[in-house]
Order: sequence, then structure tokens, then C-alpha cells
Amino acid sequence: MCGIVGGVSNKPIRNYLIEGLKTIEYRGYDSAGIAVFNGKKAEIYKVRGRVEDLDNKLEKRIDGLVGIGHTRWATHGEPSVINAHPHASKSGLFSIVHNGVIENFRAVKNALMEKGYSFLSETDTEVIANVIEENYRHTGDVYKAISKMMSDVKGSYALAILFSKEPDIIYFAKNRSPLLIGRGQNGNFLASDYLPMLKVADQFVTISDYQYGSISLDDIKMFGRNDHPLPIVFHETELKPEALDLNGYPHYMLKEIEEADSCVKLLVDNYYDGKSFLFDKEMMRQIKEADNIVFLACGTSYHACLLGSRFFRKAGKISDVYIASEWAYNPYTSGKKTVYIFMSQSGETADLIHCLSVAKKMDGTIITITNTQGSTLSRSADHTLLLYAGIEVAVASTKAYVAQVSALALLAGALNDDASVIADLEAVIAAQQSVIDNHDKIKNLASFVSGKNDVYFLGRGLDYDLALECSLKLKEITYIHSEAFPGGELKHGPIALIEKDTPVIGFISDAKTELAMRSNLHEVEARGARVIVVSSITLAHPEDDFVVPYAPKYLSSLVKVLFGQYLAYYVALKRGLNIDKPRNLAKSVTVE
Ligand code: M6R
Repeated sequence: MCGIVGGVSNKPIRNYLIEGLKTIEYRGYDSAGIAVFNGKKAEIYKVRGRVEDLDNKLEKRIDGLVGIGHTRWATHGEPSVINAHPHASKSGLFSIVHNGVIENFRAVKNALMEKGYSFLSETDTEVIANVIEENYRHTGDVYKAISKMMSDVKGSYALAILFSKEPDIIYFAKNRSPLLIGRGQNGNFLASDYLPMLKVADQFVTISDYQYGSISLDDIKMFGRNDHPLPIVFHETELKPEALDLNGYPHYMLKEIEEADSCVKLLVDNYYDGKSFLFDKEMMRQIKEADNIVFLACGTSYHACLLGSRFFRKAGKISDVYIASEWAYNPYTSGKKTVYIFMSQSGETADLIHCLSVAKKMDGTIITITNTQGSTLSRSADHTLLLYAGIEVAVASTKAYVAQVSALALLAGALNDDASVIADLEAVIAAQQSVIDNHDKIKNLASFVSGKNDVYFLGRGLDYDLALECSLKLKEITYIHSEAFPGGELKHGPIALIEKDTPVIGFISDAKTELAMRSNLHEVEARGARVIVVSSITLAHPEDDFVVPYAPKYLSSLVKVLFGQYLAYYVALKRGLNIDKPRNLAKSVTVE
């Protein structure tokens, strides 16, 4: 969480900082700030609130050519101007922005206080600024001060650092939080990901853990562990700035929901050439030889894996799914030859990075499935599968879920060289298109739901996995309390929650459980619930509220999930909420 930018340019840096921060505001948005060298002094401007508020507050013309910026998701200290970044060291020698969490910050802070340092904010970042200042006082060299800071503090950090005696340089350091350098015609830049730099840079350098260095107008210096200078290796990215255009949509979430069908198509095109699957042969061999597949993920990605493990079991593989933050502290595999599948849209999720270090010690093959090329999880895996979903800007994940489930279906198909999955996904694409064309009915249902305090989702089997995802979507962007239950569990407790007009949304995709599911829905209806039935066309009753066109049963969630996504979207719209940036959340969860 938190996004950082920095740049040394031959043009005023203000607009790069502000526009850049806007593109990574999904990483956190409770406060924002920039520091720009104005003559010899770094001027700091901060607000509580959004980057737009900062933009409005700043003078339009700030001439400085060198600056750093930050958009914050609070970890240490409440969202406030004082806690907003950049933070200056005691004497003002250093100003820094930080993404990450310093685990030993209390001990380090106490040690500094004993040396006479005092602090304005509650943040761990101000502690780092002062550690660097203290180290500089002893070494008289900024690189040495940063290198020592990296052994003094424990935790995660991506740092951009201004040093008031060198107003044409930005220093940086990185451990466990992402940081990239971009080189363009008008200077060198830094950011938490590619997005801020797409308009100003065309060549990029990925900074790895325990690396530090500096950028100036025409130079980049990087050092690794043991302070050895490192070669600068540039790469390009396929991401285009146009990917951030809303194309006439009012919100990214709506745009991204309606990209579902094209996501499925792109995945099929990338992993099937019309005759055979295009997955890495060595990776396929390792999956086939594995005696257990362990899926690790969080949130929406976890829900995608619940379905994925069903596909793998059907394809003959023993497989288990774990919430990453749970598995990290209680790791388990029943196999002797395990393949770990790390599923992550962002590829930067801290809980998964923790699991990665655990899984590496347990031996086995690590596969990352991610939408983010070059991400930490991708770089640390034995194999990476890209999701090709394009940038997902809205904090609530929609098209990435569709791509995740589709990728797992393709992979499970490839296990037994069963190309029927291709025709099945083509049926999904047609059905998704039909839901997109006919989603007005969901808007009407959303009007009813928007006035409620509690909403329940019910499903059995794969519909329960889907219910979990739809419930998460609703709660995260509408702030309505919502839970998902397996249909059969209701009578074992949750039915006590049902009151008059409580919305209960039931999914019906499987002939085997249809009757049991309809009985469960009758039971809640008899207790006053307003039941909303979402069924597959092959099982539909005339009175069902929303019927989706044919898709093979095992992939039906790829179609019905659009119902849940639209419902959440229109409820949030009706409630007048900030749909793309819901409260308290961030897109890339880089702290545990
Ligand atoms: O980037 P990841 O897929 O690892 O993120 C996992 C979750 O944080 C994420 O899916 C989260 O649940 C979304 N906000 C859901 O919409």
C-alpha cells in the first residue's frame, strides 16, 4: 500500500508528481504530499485526503525540477497532514517518502530519542529519515548512510530520498516493497509501478531487494548487498498510457466489468494456438508429476482458487486451497512433491510474499499466476503465468477474477490435453456478452438492495465459491454488511438472522443441488426474506429474478459473477459512494 513517485527532469516536476500520483492512488488514498527542490531547499506540501485535493491546494506553477511524492494508506498513525509524507529529518537535511512498514521502528525510535531526536509524526517513516540523518552525521556520505540504514531497520520499504545539499539527485532504497526506475527523454524517474512513468519514460529498471542508489538528470547509480555497484539493466513494458483511459465510462469498475469477455478471449489466444496448449512444458511436467497442488491467495484471488482447485481435482490432481495469511504461519502440504500456485492480481501482496519465503524452504515448485509482469511474486517464482487482463484500476477486482478462473480452467484442461475447455470458454464469452447487454434488470434489483443493512448470498458447491466472491464485492464497495453461506448451512445457525425483507441472493447452476437449494430459499422466504434467484437457463423457473444464458456448469461462475459485480456497482452508485476507491482499502496490499 502507499504509492511513491520521484523524478529529476529538465522540465518542472510538479505535473509529473501529481499526475503520476493520481495513477497510483489505488495503492492508498487517505493523504498525499510532495517535496520539490526550490533552489536549495526541499519545499514540502501535504494534505489529508486525495491527490486531487493536493493538486487544488498547490500553486499551479512550481518551478522545481526535482521532487518526490506520496499517496498514503495509513499504517502508523491516523490519516492526517502531520502523518502524511514526505517526512523531513530533524535538521531538514533529508526528506523522504516511504512505502512499507518498519517492524523495529519503536526500538529504533527510542534509540534515536536517547540521542536527542524528537518526532513530529507517529510514522515509522520519520524514524527512517532520522536514521539516515544520524548515519550521515557519522559517515558524511549519503550512500553509506543509506546502506547502514538498511541494516539498522527491519521491514519493508521503497524509499525516495531528497538530500538538501544535493538538489539535483534523488536517492532510493528498496526492500520487499516495489520500486522501479524509468528513463525518458526528459530525465529519470522513480515509482512504485509503471503507471506514473508511462508518459515520461520508455525504458525501465526493476530494483530488487536490498538495492539502493540514486538518479540524476542523466545518470543512474545502483548498489547491491555489500555495496557493490550494479550494472543498470533496462527493459521495456507493453503497458500503454491509453490503458488508463475511461473510454466514456463513468467509473473504472464498470469499464472493467464489461471487459470480462475480452479477458477470456485474450487468455485463450495467449495459451492455445488452435491446436495445442502453449504452457511451458517444464511447468506442465512438474504439475503432472506433483502429488499435491497447494493454492495460496487472498481475497478475490482466493475465491478464484476455490474454483481452480475444483478444476484440478476433476483433472485428477489432489489440491488444497489456503488463505495466504493463514498458511504463512501454519504451512502444510500433504504431498512429497508439491506445486504451489500463488494467485495474485498485483503480484505484490505481502501475505503471499511471506508464504513464498516459507514455501521456498519446504521445497517444491512455485508458480505465480498474476496480472503484473515483473512483480515481486513473478520474479521469485519458478514459472509465471500472466493473466493478460490489462491494467485493473478499480480497487474492487472484477476482470482479474474472470481472468484468474479462466486461466485455471485452461491449465486444468492442459493437464490432460483436453481442448474441450476452449469451446467451453467460448460459450462463456457469448454468455457474458449477453449478461452485459441485458444488465438493466440488475440495476432495478440494486435499488431494492441499496436500502438494506444486511445481504446474504447462498450457493452450494461451486455456487458457494461464487457466493463468497459476490458477497465480498458487495461489502467492499457498498459498505453493506454481507455474508455468504453454503445453502445447507443455513439451518445450522445463520437463518436466525433473517428478518422481513432481508435480501437473500441464491445461485443455482447445478442440477444435482438445484432442489436442495430451492428448498433452502423457500425456508428463508417463509421467514420473510426477499429471495433473489440467479439461475442458469437450463435450470431456470419462470419466476427466477435473473437467468443467465448457457455456459458449462463448471464455468458458470464466470457468467454469474457479472451479476454480483453489477449488483455491487449499482448499489454503490445508488448510495453515492466512491466506487473505484472504497474507504479503508487499497488495491495492492503490501503490508501484512
Ligand atoms: O493482488 P492480489 O490478487 O494478491 O490481491 C488480493 C486481494 O487483496 C484482493 O483480491 C482484494 O480482495 C480485492 N479488493 C477484491 O476486490
